[in-house]
Amino acid sequence: MVDAKIKVIKTINDFRGSLSVIEWEQDLGFEVKRTYYLHNLSGDERGKHAHKELYQFMIAIKGSFDVHLTKKGETKKFHLSSASEGLLVPPGHWRLLDNFSEDAVCIVFASDVYSEDEYIRNYEEFLAWEKDQ
Ligand code: TYD
Repeated sequence: MVDAKIKVIKTINDFRGSLSVIEWEQDLGFEVKRTYYLHNLSGDERGKHAHKELYQFMIAIKGSFDVHLTKKGETKKFHLSSASEGLLVPPGHWRLLDNFSEDAVCIVFASDVYSEDEYIRNYEEFLAWEKDQ
């Protein structure tokens, strides 16, 4: 089952604007070792892979997009459109990102450094791998 969750980010609003803050271990249960962001997007789909061990937290820091997650036969769609919430994605989800607004920026915080060995990029391989989990 999909066990990803939308998490509301603590946000302090005043007349100057909004300040959003994440205390990683306490708020999300992992420490961040890597940050990357998708920007200047053409509108084409992204993702189409799974991670075996990685935790990720995704925020639509600008604009909006959809994240489709599949795990153990269940698929759920999450629409991200606010800088004061994010999607916590534990390991073992096949993901596809689409429906990007023209100005979309997706920032991703990850629990580990980049390792191609940790990816599953073939959907059939993903289905075989998750059977053993
Ligand atoms: P990819 O995983 O295909 O991006 P997406 O899931 O958003 O569609 O990554 C695109 C390229 O960037 C690929 O060649 C791997 C490389 N890359 C890194 O070098 N480091 C990273 O941390 C990430 C996420 C990707």
